[in-house]
Amino acid sequence: MTHTPTAPTPGDRMRSVRFGSFGDPSVLEVAEVAAPEPQPGQITIDVRYAGVNFAEVMFRRGQFPVDLPHFPGLEAVGTVRALGEGVTGLALGERVAALTLGGGGNAEVVAVGAEHVVRLDGELAALDGASAAGALCNVTTALGVLTSAGHLSPGETVVVLAAAGGVGTAAAQLARNLGAATVIGVTSSPAKAAYARDYGYDSVVSYDRIQDEVAERTGGAGADLVLDSVGGAVRSSLTALLAPFGRHVVFGNAASEDVTFEGNHPWYTNSSLAGYNLGGVAGRAPRLLRTHLEQALAEVAGGRVRVDVKVLPLKDVAHAHEQLETRASTGKYVLDVRA
Ligand SMILES: NC(=O)c1ccc[n+]([C@@H]2O[C@H](COP(=O)([O-])OP(=O)(O)OC[C@H]3O[C@@H](n4cnc5c(N)ncnc54)[C@H](OP(=O)(O)O)[C@@H]3O)[C@@H](O)[C@H]2O)c1
Repeated sequence: MTHTPTAPTPGDRMRSVRFGSFGDPSVLEVAEVAAPEPQPGQITIDVRYAGVNFAEVMFRRGQFPVDLPHFPGLEAVGTVRALGEGVTGLALGERVAALTLGGGGNAEVVAVGAEHVVRLDGELAALDGASAAGALCNVTTALGVLTSAGHLSPGETVVVLAAAGGVGTAAAQLARNLGAATVIGVTSSPAKAAYARDYGYDSVVSYDRIQDEVAERTGGAGADLVLDSVGGAVRSSLTALLAPFGRHVVFGNAASEDVTFEGNHPWYTNSSLAGYNLGGVAGRAPRLLRTHLEQALAEVAGGRVRVDVKVLPLKDVAHAHEQLETRASTGKYVLDVRA
């Protein structure tokens, strides 16, 4: 989908999601504020679709230090509105998808570093805007977790917590595409389990059934890789699922409750504790992030990974947050910023 770029003039106004204090979803508002201008090395995007991520719930609740007021939104899809000094290789009006890692994506205009912008042309031209927005953070993260952090090899057994979520549904499909022999999902309800089964899992079980399911599926050998974005009580029990030299990858804390491991823990258990943080990869390994970002979008454009997007108007952003934090959501919420 394309839309005509507006000629940016200093002082242009736009609608943006904002919160001025930490709290429940009611702190979210759609405010009219000044549209950003691109700084050197940045572009601005006329946003059409913007994803909602669990991380933004955590920002809103004050679980990470962000300045107030905060303008949420870690990803956006639209057309190039203006180019900052030094930016080459992008043209005004061209369709793009971008990680907006400093926030600001849930808005009609966002400024973003050009290094995190991908042109939706060539093999990506077929990608619809909502799916692209739904893929940016989630599919890129799933890919990084499975490969760079998890070192998945063909034939291995993978366990995915929060299996029906945005990252979870992508991780199951990517694990299959990367040659995993067995992919076990874990969800908090039978309805979510039924939903998740469509995304390539061999089985999807409840949290209290993980141990038995892994034992049954692997003949007692254990899982090679566990993807843990949940934390809380279940985190302490995950090493026991692993085969010798299995990897436990921590990349989230949806339960808002961490556990402590001793430094000797990997030694005593023949296991690896690994981690993945998208923002950290952006800062310290930007070329790797870009490779994963482009690969993630190509997987979706090529039909090898399916992203189930639920599109809401910008004003309904609080509903998306509520669904995510009450564990009611499946797949991915995307805001239609122009609706
Ligand atoms: N490290 C990174 O760079 C990075 C990047 C992207 C995402 N993440 C993390 O990956 C996870 C998935 O992100 P997402 O945006 O795709 O979210 P999501 O998986 O669609 O939603 C979060 C899921 O976490 C599970 N969960 C477990 N305990 C929960 C609790 N106490 N409250 C709420 N949810 C709980 C729920 O699934 P069940 O009800 O089935 O358990 C819920 O559906 C999040 O934890 C996120 O922070 C990390």
